[in-house]
Amino acid sequence: MTILITGGAGFIGSHVVRLFVEAYSNYHVVNLDALTYAGNLENLKDIEKKDNYTFVKGDITNEDFVNNLFQKYRFDRVIHLAAESHVDRSINDPLAFVKTNVMGTMILLNAFKSLWTDNFINKLFYHISTDEVYGTLGQTGLFTETTSYDPNSPYSASKASSDHFVRAYGETYGIPYVITNCSNNYGQNQFPEKLIPLFINNIIKNKPLPVYGDGNYTRDWLYVKDHAVAIDLVFHKGKNKETYNIGGFNEWKNIDLVKLLCKQMDEKLHREKGSSEKLITYVKDRPGHDLRYAIDASKINKELGWKPSVTFEEGLNKTIDWYLNNEDWLCNVTSGEYQSYYEKQYS
Ligand code: NAD
Ligand code: DAU
Repeated sequence: MTILITGGAGFIGSHVVRLFVEAYSNYHVVNLDALTYAGNLENLKDIEKKDNYTFVKGDITNEDFVNNLFQKYRFDRVIHLAAESHVDRSINDPLAFVKTNVMGTMILLNAFKSLWTDNFINKLFYHISTDEVYGTLGQTGLFTETTSYDPNSPYSASKASSDHFVRAYGETYGIPYVITNCSNNYGQNQFPEKLIPLFINNIIKNKPLPVYGDGNYTRDWLYVKDHAVAIDLVFHKGKNKETYNIGGFNEWKNIDLVKLLCKQMDEKLHREKGSSEKLITYVKDRPGHDLRYAIDASKINKELGWKPSVTFEEGLNKTIDWYLNNEDWLCNVTSGEYQSYYEKQYS
């Protein structure tokens, strides 16, 4: 089986690529990634020489390039993660999100459809999506697979749009597909524009911790390696045309999470108790900020037997250790473009 994984040099994608390359020596894994600011081949150094792995640098929005790649490798299955993924960037440049997340997904779907026409036996288009497509929750309730889509940011609107196209291609052209909608991931190799790695980096450097609004926003956090395991399960055992929600059963208000992070960082950096908390700075809120996300992951739990394997405290601990032990990685990704992004976002 030849599998295309898009966005495999990014945060979640690199964990998925590693899992598939290491667990399935009989699959040929092709990782297609444009290496945008978020893509980093350093994330895959340990597996880059494996016989069943090929990296291809390329853009999913380049139609001719994508079509030629599908003709060359004749992919049986696709796991599609490539995306513009940061909400704040989508507020500043929404069209970039439409281009990659909507057009890019369409181009992949068309290439897959043309390759196999109506012979889709044992073929699969697996689309990785987000819980943000469901919009926001109030203080109670959970997102289920039947919750209506109600996206609030340009990022989530672009992801919702791509989900709809995947479904439409399944209905109209018979493409076998699955979609998973996952909650907030954290763990090693996450680009430090997202809450947890941004704050770890700022604590290391004694910089302010910019908490949006009053900090009373809630997210459901999942360790990235547990997400990769869920993707493996859905890839092999998920039912055609089904959606599965994936979540951590692990809700945290931002401000409580930040305080826990500060406490753990003080201990690890041997700093005086309470010193990182002093860096907390309340800043202007994110426009259209969703109050709360929380996933009901009982379907994937009951049907496929998946559940998270690490507690949040364990996962956070491992994550902090990784960033402290990989300062070169952090330095490399926070030089260049990151500096101008940071200035623009937080000045
Ligand atoms: P990321 O930003 O870390 O990585 C995205 C990857 O896609 C990068 O390697 C980048 O180079 C690549 N890419 C971007 N545009 C491309 C293009 N035009 N052509 C080819 N490659 C391109 O993102 P992530 O956090 O790893 O998210 C991966 C997927 O999972 C996304 O689809 C995202 O919507 C979804 N998701 C993320 C989370 C999360 O918490 N991070 C949660 C649920 C779902
Ligand atoms: O829910 C899944 C989604 O989680 C994914 O689809 C997205 O790709 C991913 O980026 C993430 O989106 P969020 O917007 O929830 O993640 P982020 O890390 O940007 O923010 C988490 C919370 O922290 C959110 O309430 C905003 C807040 N925040 C974030 C940053 C970057 C701050 O208070 N300050 C900050 O500087």
